[in-house]
Amino acid sequence: MNSKYYLKCVKCNHIIDDFSIWFDNNQKCPKCGSNWATVHYNESIQKIKDLIKPDSPKPQSFWHYFDFLPLIDKKNIVTRGEGVIPAERWTFLEDYAKRKFNLNLTVYAYRNDLNQGTGTFKDVAASSAASILKEHGIKEYAIASTGNIATAYSHYLAAAGISINVFVPNDALKAHEAEVSSYGQRIFRVNGDYGLAKKIAAEFSEKNGILLSGGNTDPMRVEAKKTMVFEWLRQLGTLPNIYIQALSGGTGPIAIDKACDELAEAKIDIKLPRFIMVQPHNCDPMTAAWKDAKTKNFPEGWENNYPVYENPETKIPTLATGNPKTYPIIGKLVKKSNGEIISFDEDEMANVAKLVAYETTVKIGPASTVAVGGFFESLKQGLIKNGDSVLINVGEGVQRASELMNEMIYTTKKVDSVDECEPADRTEFSKELWSKFDKYAE
Ligand SMILES: Cc1ncc(COP(=O)(O)O)c(C=O)c1O
Ligand SMILES: [Zn+2]
Repeated sequence: MNSKYYLKCVKCNHIIDDFSIWFDNNQKCPKCGSNWATVHYNESIQKIKDLIKPDSPKPQSFWHYFDFLPLIDKKNIVTRGEGVIPAERWTFLEDYAKRKFNLNLTVYAYRNDLNQGTGTFKDVAASSAASILKEHGIKEYAIASTGNIATAYSHYLAAAGISINVFVPNDALKAHEAEVSSYGQRIFRVNGDYGLAKKIAAEFSEKNGILLSGGNTDPMRVEAKKTMVFEWLRQLGTLPNIYIQALSGGTGPIAIDKACDELAEAKIDIKLPRFIMVQPHNCDPMTAAWKDAKTKNFPEGWENNYPVYENPETKIPTLATGNPKTYPIIGKLVKKSNGEIISFDEDEMANVAKLVAYETTVKIGPASTVAVGGFFESLKQGLIKNGDSVLINVGEGVQRASELMNEMIYTTKKVDSVDECEPADRTEFSKELWSKFDKYAE
């Protein structure tokens, strides 16, 4: 029991006083057994207005929002300074929209690749989980992951002195395996897809009585990720009206919706951004489900109707969720936000990565190319309107994806003598790089 926060079961509204009860009850509601609970705070949300003042000094990390995070004692914070990353204007995308579609847009890239822990979208969640688990004296943990969350949790839990058992699918990138291993955390590479990794992890958790990460609705994750909304308000003074993210399980939209609910209580004038969720075309079960529901005009129970893809063969293993169990939640949120779930042709991954690196010097990773690619696809489908303010979640850098990195080599010329080496002019590459995006404007 604490006086700072409590959890509330989303299904039956039962109040759970503390994370200790939540953990003792295997992260389930003691009354109805649901595994989805949200956190609520006794501190008045009015206080957020001070925390998001634009002229205050730059915060050290997302723990700046400590009053609205479910941790009691600041000494338990495990941080690497994550979560105060910039929302950067990417004017080259604004110029493209103007040139090809005559749209005046503001486009931001939310630079999760700059997170200091492991350089992904997952660092804030891992910092939050490590701190809360530490506060409750937990020494062992387990997680199933496509890669980024495994790496982030391995890092932060190691920093907290907690052992984690990581379960990844057989197509997870070698770089994740190496990194998890380097922290001395156990990695189990299962002989199958992400669905099998989750199944074995759940059985392992039950067999050994070890807590298993709760997935996309895990309150430790959602609470951390909601702070991105506070950061946008602090940095931009307002929210973008379109949020584009590569979609796997969908913690992002769940967390944004939670933040907007909290802020509504503070009577801060904001509107939920339209969620444009993007899946790689080789693993896009939520897109398929959404398209089908839309064609049928969202009949009763539409959100429970989705396909399951066994062993999806995508070049982007971090997004390889073939069994989209969160679709009932995500589909409804996307609808509530007046958004869309779309696919992006993952064969264009390298073209996107090359263009972004050329225009900004930022080397984005595979999942991020799907989000940026989703911007082009959204323009093509007419989903973005004049005057819109668009924020693209750049979830990861390229550092773990050596194949994508190799595909970004395009300026090499093999030579035998100086006679063959003419002076370089980098602008000569621009036309060729941009020509790959003409098709979105036809
Ligand atoms: C970089 C990156 N972007 C996006 C996602 C998708 O996140 P979510 O599970 O919230 O859909 C992931 C998931 O692993 C990721 O690593
Ligand atoms: Zn309940």
